[in-house]
Amino acid sequence: MKIKTVYRCTECGAESLRWAGKCPMCDTWNSLVEVEVESKTQRKASAIRQSDNVPVRFSQIQDSQIERISTGIQELDRTLGGGIVQGSFVLIGGDPGIGKSTLLLQMCAEIKDETTLYVTGEESIHQINQRAKRLNATHDNILVLAETNLERILYAIENTECRIIIIDSIQSIRTEYADATAGSVVQIRECGQALMNTAKLSNKAIFIIGHVTKEGIIAGPKVLEHIVDTVLLFEGSKNYSYRILRAMKNRFGSTNEIGIFEMSGYGLREVLNPSEVFLSTRDNNDSGIALSAAIEGTLPIIAEVQALVGASNYGVPQRSSNIFDIKRLQMILAVLEKRLGLNFGHNDIFVNIAGGFSINDTSLDLAVAGAIVSSFRDTVIDNKTVLIGEIGLTGEVRSVQYMEKRILEVQKLGFNRVITPILPKDIKKEKFTLEIVSVGKITDALREIM
Ligand code: TYD
Ligand code: MG
Repeated sequence: MKIKTVYRCTECGAESLRWAGKCPMCDTWNSLVEVEVESKTQRKASAIRQSDNVPVRFSQIQDSQIERISTGIQELDRTLGGGIVQGSFVLIGGDPGIGKSTLLLQMCAEIKDETTLYVTGEESIHQINQRAKRLNATHDNILVLAETNLERILYAIENTECRIIIIDSIQSIRTEYADATAGSVVQIRECGQALMNTAKLSNKAIFIIGHVTKEGIIAGPKVLEHIVDTVLLFEGSKNYSYRILRAMKNRFGSTNEIGIFEMSGYGLREVLNPSEVFLSTRDNNDSGIALSAAIEGTLPIIAEVQALVGASNYGVPQRSSNIFDIKRLQMILAVLEKRLGLNFGHNDIFVNIAGGFSINDTSLDLAVAGAIVSSFRDTVIDNKTVLIGEIGLTGEVRSVQYMEKRILEVQKLGFNRVITPILPKDIKKEKFTLEIVSVGKITDALREIM
């Protein structure tokens, strides 16, 4: 029978029929190697003619309870959808240095009634020991293995009684059965697949750490995202100590969940009241500050928007924000110019959100507009007032989701007034103790606060 051969790239796994000096997909030089593949006829011959796996009706499927183990870290449990599911395969991605190893080592330390296995391919046993001491995570239920060889790692997983395994990181390990360097797409795919099989067959939960590449995708261009059960992304900025853990994909829970942490000298600390993160100057009376109530995942967060409108010394005025979407900022500025007759043509405008991470929620629009006008006119907005609402192109203030939850958070934190869009009928203002001012237009909103 004819054996077909193709040329496969050892870096990206792309196949081509002809050899070339440079891979046509990823442009790596000298990476194509000849491999044998089954021809179509061979595949047909081995096609299954009989199978005992038959389709069933829903009524025939028996209920099964998912058994979960608590990580001992509330924020992590919630992000995972309620704890660790046995046999699950979880990917934790994030920039190098953001705190992935720290988080998972702390998790191992918190899970006291299970043996956990921490496999490190990046650090030596001594380095990890130092780190564990700093985190106060040296208890005896944690087994540590410094290893980069996949086969030896699989052996250790199968031959220890642990039910939770951490692989730190997927980029640092390699299998002998693929001819490529550690961290290449081929290696990541092969190792990921093998670890996934092990997780499912042994019913042990495996966490793999993956560094995110410059493009912001989980390295090994997304090859792992579709095989794993859960993808968690750990984000934050190097300049701030706060970190957000987000579920990007979860076969065992909602992808709306987030967990918030703060990096301290003794590892990560859970932030149980997220609004405290964003409020830096609550007692100050400065112009250019407006507060809003955003929703991250399912959590309401009081966010502080800061704006600076200054004279522009150069030809083209600057619009800058390290975290707020620039296009949205430009739209808000255009609305302010048109509806309020303001002219920002000779002003540089900077907009930031205190705390240092981006909030992707259009309910911040009104606070952004408020902060800009406050800075422009050098008028202070009362620091007990919170602004919620999306701004439309005609200057209307539009309703956003979860209004009730947001207002409750505002009330809980002791603010006494909230400016909102016109509320839906089912939200009764009498239910709240704070003053609620509903406005239809941005001009009305600004009149209320200045
Ligand atoms: P790490 O968990 O090694 O990041 P990752 O695994 O995502 O690459 O965290 C690295 C950073 O965290 C490092 O810059 C030092 C800092 N850090 C602390 O601030 N406090 C601590 O207790 C620990 C362990 C680390
Ligand atoms: Mg690490």
